[in-house]
Amino acid sequence: TTGYITLDSGYMNTGSCNSQITFLDGEKGILNYRGYEIETLAENCSFVEVAYLLLIGELPTQKQLNDFRELLSRYALIHEDMIHFFDHFPPNAPPMAILSNMVNTLQNYYPEMTSESEEELPEIAARILSKIRTIAAFSYKKSVGHPLVYPRYDLSYCGNFLNMMFDKPVKPYVVHPEVVATLNKLLILHADHEQNCSTSTVRLVGSAGVNLYTSISAGISALWGPLHGGANQAVVEMLMAIHRDNNDFEKYIKKAKDPNDPFRLTGFGHRVYKTFDPRATIIKRACAKTLKALNVDDPLLDIAMELEDIARNDDYFISRNLYPNVDFYSGIIYRAMGIPTNMFTVMFAMGRLPGWISHWREMMLDTKNLRIGRPRQVYDGPKQRDFIPLHERV
Ligand code: SDX
Repeated sequence: TTGYITLDSGYMNTGSCNSQITFLDGEKGILNYRGYEIETLAENCSFVEVAYLLLIGELPTQKQLNDFRELLSRYALIHEDMIHFFDHFPPNAPPMAILSNMVNTLQNYYPEMTSESEEELPEIAARILSKIRTIAAFSYKKSVGHPLVYPRYDLSYCGNFLNMMFDKPVKPYVVHPEVVATLNKLLILHADHEQNCSTSTVRLVGSAGVNLYTSISAGISALWGPLHGGANQAVVEMLMAIHRDNNDFEKYIKKAKDPNDPFRLTGFGHRVYKTFDPRATIIKRACAKTLKALNVDDPLLDIAMELEDIARNDDYFISRNLYPNVDFYSGIIYRAMGIPTNMFTVMFAMGRLPGWISHWREMMLDTKNLRIGRPRQVYDGPKQRDFIPLHERV
């Protein structure tokens, strides 16, 4: 029904593949990374620990984690020549366009980082995981005209990002433990999600033999869509519009239900989950806790919860199994952290990166089944017909 013909061979001919990375049960709302429940990982791990789990397949020992952290610190800088690229992006250049561009450019400066060898994986992954964080923070600093803040050896993955984003010569940034803990949790919750649009893009592009950077760059572009990772930005814009409309919930619910109106209740619905997205449940809890810890009173949280309540009691949404997804509450937390709306999907990309790298490698190392992706179609155009020369066409 989606236009794909189901064939019996190989990846991407059937729109599906085998994988050992992430398990989803859309009916029960279950999400496991390498066999571990997302709730347990989100409550007990750091993002770096979960990135290692996704990449290597096992939770790291303390030594393995220390070594991985050391690699992330060592490779946090980008080539100084790359920094000049930022001078030539227009001030209002979308951060996702900059991110996709700069990640693809990494291969020009670090060509050696595309090998598929097992022992080099932690180093290859650490380099791109660390550099994407620096690129994201630098693009923000450039967009607001502030001096760049370089990564520091003594800060954690998330602490470094926050410091690079918000530290200023006039007012040093104090890394808040609650913010670091919540950012770790958010990145963990976004780290992988089976064969979603952007991960499938990374696999499809990679299946042609394209290197890791270019495959990731394509994944970033796919994630940008408002139907995909761009939804976290669209949710906050929708909540702000409702707020400006004096909380006229009925207007937006009516628009969302109108088959002739392209408006969708963004942050709601999911191709796989037909019950609560387990990530949304965790993020909603973290949202209230983080805003309280930061003493932030954001009316958008109340609006989001009331909108959820109305939709969850409306037959249109109930009959279609439409529930809040990962994007519904995440933007409210990013706002409380001081992250600008146009950077929300960049945060999603930073979180999803270990998943993209893991899937690209899983596919590239599966040499027995590795074939170029070539989805088919159901053709319903004109039947074969005779040619009409130009001078005879009327
Ligand atoms: C992500 O795949 C992944 O795993 C993605 C992701 C990940 O981690 O990678 O989870 C991240 O992308 C989450 C989704 C973020 N996008 C949004 O929140 C955008 C709003 N949501 C919708 O556009 C929609 O729900 C999708 C895109 C998420 C899913 O689209 P589907 O599966 O193609 O759903 P559908 O279009 O077949 O909808 C079925 C019915 C339709 O109504 P009918 O034709 O049956 O009358 O439900 C309706 C749709 O109109 N519907 C909605 C709706 N979502 C679906 N109606 C109003 N508001 C919505 N949000």
